[in-house]
Amino acid sequence: MLIVALVMMAMLTSTASGMEPIRHRALRGHQIWQLSGDGGAVSFELMQKGLMDVLGHSRTSRKVRVPSRALEEARRILQERGVAHEVLVEDLATFLEEKERLARGSVERESCFPNSCPRPFGNSYMTFKQIEWFLQNLCENSTRASLTSLGKSTENRDIWMVHLRSEGPKAGGAIWVEAGIHAREWISSAVALHLLKNLLQDDGTAGHPDVYVVPMANPDGYEYSRTLDRFWRKNRRRASNPECMGVDLNRNWGFHYGVGASDFECSEVFKGAAAFSEPETKALRDAMKKVKDNLKMVLSLHSYGQQLLYPWGYSEEETAPDTDDLIKAGNVFVEAIKNLSNTSYAVANVARDLYKASGTTEDWAKSVLGVKYTYTLELRDEGENGFLLDPSHILPCSEEVWEGLKVLLQRIF
Ligand SMILES: *[C@@H]1O[C@H](CO)[C@@H](O)[C@H](O)[C@H]1NC(C)=O
Ligand SMILES: *[C@@H]1O[C@H](CO)[C@@H](O)[C@H](O)[C@H]1NC(C)=O
Ligand SMILES: *[C@@H]1O[C@H](CO)[C@@H](O)[C@H](O)[C@H]1NC(C)=O
Ligand SMILES: [Zn+2]
Repeated sequence: MLIVALVMMAMLTSTASGMEPIRHRALRGHQIWQLSGDGGAVSFELMQKGLMDVLGHSRTSRKVRVPSRALEEARRILQERGVAHEVLVEDLATFLEEKERLARGSVERESCFPNSCPRPFGNSYMTFKQIEWFLQNLCENSTRASLTSLGKSTENRDIWMVHLRSEGPKAGGAIWVEAGIHAREWISSAVALHLLKNLLQDDGTAGHPDVYVVPMANPDGYEYSRTLDRFWRKNRRRASNPECMGVDLNRNWGFHYGVGASDFECSEVFKGAAAFSEPETKALRDAMKKVKDNLKMVLSLHSYGQQLLYPWGYSEEETAPDTDDLIKAGNVFVEAIKNLSNTSYAVANVARDLYKASGTTEDWAKSVLGVKYTYTLELRDEGENGFLLDPSHILPCSEEVWEGLKVLLQRIF
């Protein structure tokens, strides 16, 4: 306890004296590499071993983050496999500090307070507290919306779910929207909050099904990514090696558990000790099971890549039931967005077009719950800024997803 306090004091003192800010210390010495086109398989293998963090998914190029502890080994293995790499960022901490220095003062920061948080922010990312205030405000002010805590995270934060009750002719069906299961994908929660606002304002004429929204499925990871490690992905499950904490919550669901994931706790795709070992996935599972008979769609929001992904993730060979309908409805979503903002989203299969990933929300909801339409939506951008997406994208990205969702709902209900 005393040691922790002393370390904290030392960290605070160094910041106060204008030395290295605390927030990017975890990324000191990490590099961003661009792998040549054939680097897909090896980067995935290195990710399972905890030597690499695959950031972008594209068939022709691949951006990866390599922790400082793994630079030498990763370089050696790539060389052995004949995969070329180009160093895009020499030191991620310096890169982020510089980026922040340039951005400082260029946008007005938004703020809000308990009982007065009427809108989700349009030009900055909200803290978890601000998200809670917004959700409380939204639900106190509406007869259609109710707020429920599905359970607590590892660090005792609430996993909030908003239920918007249908008042239209579409009663009887429901959709489930999940966001923020990967900590660093900030745009996903921002978009979910704007969807909530739009769904609530749009009542009456359009008539929507019941909507369940979990805008922040991994609050511990999110807060950690906001304060100490901008590239944090997993939850904050304790581990013996502090660099290797956390479980990938989107590999922890109980369907083909372990395929396309890792047994190794240092890996970004560590599957955890067992299926549903994590309080966050347990909470989501139990709540989804309660409403499963009504669910026609489960949409899991992620970033980045601008892709609407359909199952399966666990196998390239197996074709999921309803694949034709999933693709057709997906095409309508994508076309509506193209019409609105000329932003290109692609409809793609997880295992065939990205990489094998199982234990995901999408695969589990499709198979175990039997939901017809399950998707993972990778939001903006296509890799230019990736997870570091500028907040100026929050509103346009939310608007295009809202447009796509409206036509998708018309089609499937
Ligand atoms: C609450 O609802 C009223 C009436 O619909 C609206 O005028 C007001 O702006 C809402 N307040 C908040 C904080 O959303
Ligand atoms: C997109 O625009 C085209 C051309 O105006 C139109 O035919 C089509 O129905 C639109 N699609 C959607 C999904 O809105
Ligand atoms: C729409 O985007 C495409 C590329 O995706 C581009 O070639 C085209 O010029 C854009 N159209 C408009 C009107 O901006
Ligand atoms: Zn993700």
